[in-house]
Amino acid sequence: MFPANVYIERRKNLKKLIKSGVLIFVGNTELPMNYPQNIYHFRQDSSFLYFFGIDEPGMAAIIDLDNDKEIIFGDDVEIEDVIWTGPLPLLRDKAKNFGLTSTEVFSKFEAYVKDAVKQNKNIHFLPPYNPNSKIFLSKVLGISIDKVKDSASMELMLAVIKLRSVKTPEEVAEIEKGIDTAYEMFTKGIQMVKPGKYEYEVAGAMEGIALGKNGTLSFPTILSVRGEILHGHAHGNLMNDGDMLVMDAGFETPNHYATDHTRTVPVNGKFSKKQKEIYQIVLDSQMTAIEAIKPGVKYQDVHLLSCKVITEGLKKLGLMKGDTDAAIKQGAHAMFLPHGLGHMMGLDVHDMEDIGQIYVGYDDEVRPIDQFGTAYLRLGRRLQPGFILTVEPGIYFVPELYNLWKSENKFTEFIDYNKVSEYLGFGGIRIEDDVLVTETGHRVLGKSIPKTVEDIEALMAK
Ligand code: GLY
Ligand code: MN
Repeated sequence: MFPANVYIERRKNLKKLIKSGVLIFVGNTELPMNYPQNIYHFRQDSSFLYFFGIDEPGMAAIIDLDNDKEIIFGDDVEIEDVIWTGPLPLLRDKAKNFGLTSTEVFSKFEAYVKDAVKQNKNIHFLPPYNPNSKIFLSKVLGISIDKVKDSASMELMLAVIKLRSVKTPEEVAEIEKGIDTAYEMFTKGIQMVKPGKYEYEVAGAMEGIALGKNGTLSFPTILSVRGEILHGHAHGNLMNDGDMLVMDAGFETPNHYATDHTRTVPVNGKFSKKQKEIYQIVLDSQMTAIEAIKPGVKYQDVHLLSCKVITEGLKKLGLMKGDTDAAIKQGAHAMFLPHGLGHMMGLDVHDMEDIGQIYVGYDDEVRPIDQFGTAYLRLGRRLQPGFILTVEPGIYFVPELYNLWKSENKFTEFIDYNKVSEYLGFGGIRIEDDVLVTETGHRVLGKSIPKTVEDIEALMAK
């Protein structure tokens, strides 16, 4: 946790952005996995953590703008709990750590909100994603469950996004410290990769390193020799000589900030000529994109720039042809890069996606491009100092997409299907780093995880 004044300042900034009414925040609950007492790993809601800090289930908070009050609601443990949990600090002591002086038992929250509803106050809340929070808000606000999400406050959503999008120095430092662990996860993981091992041996060791640093994973690891499957969370494949392994993983720090990196390595430790050629295009695309990052630039344009490097590279190898700009405008490159260049990162690996990706990544000026592939770009708007984002281009050979587009004679002007057929079974390559937008440009965060062909081969030879 950060010093109390950090949380006081965050709430003060929030209060400046909302005119009137009552802001209500519901923390996350424990969720049963296979019976009530056996729960999924508890993760506090990120906006709750951001403004109120308390990292425990069963909490709620109110900022009453009209009466200038900040109240935190929760229950202290009773003796029946203490025998299972051990003694725990009182709510009022925990609240002090975050500059909160007014505490109430949890049951008072409902009465407070109901009273505000009765007084026709403007009630602001964020769209819930946790089913328990949805049910609870429905009950407290007296609206049906399927209307809760749509009744969320746009004013609050935009205010929270505005504040959380710009990372302060202590947040940047926290993420960079997290990348020390990510570095260890990746370098140790990469050194384990060899023919005859299973993917889960590497994925498990990487997760073990995260747990051993008092954190966890920031999302379920993607680690597969079937790298063309973008979010393949299964790790059951045997790794064979000649395979490429995509490793996409992140650490969640003890303070719940995320890291997110991807490296792609040859299972046998040496890139073949074909692998090296495709790898170098992805790396050039990533480095060109990183170089273009600075305040004022639209991330949508950086995405399109990375597509350009990929298209030019694939043209040189004979997989694509024709006019580069026309190919990208029509979306032919999405055969090879069917996803966006990156996303915001902070307390969530896809930061604030619960509040609404469209509001996090876009604005009135920059709208999403509604085209296969590019439509998945999660961040398009102009960059500001303090944004932390990922840069993660890739090239993939998805047999299903190849077969479909070929059968439709799609983009035959831009894609050489005969040449591409030589790459079916290649898998995919993605390279990802986390980048801070600075006042004058950008800074790639943290210790540099090997990513050139030479550095990866040298690491694997150790
Ligand atoms: N690291 C997974 C993703 O960005 O979707
Ligand atoms: Mn990512």
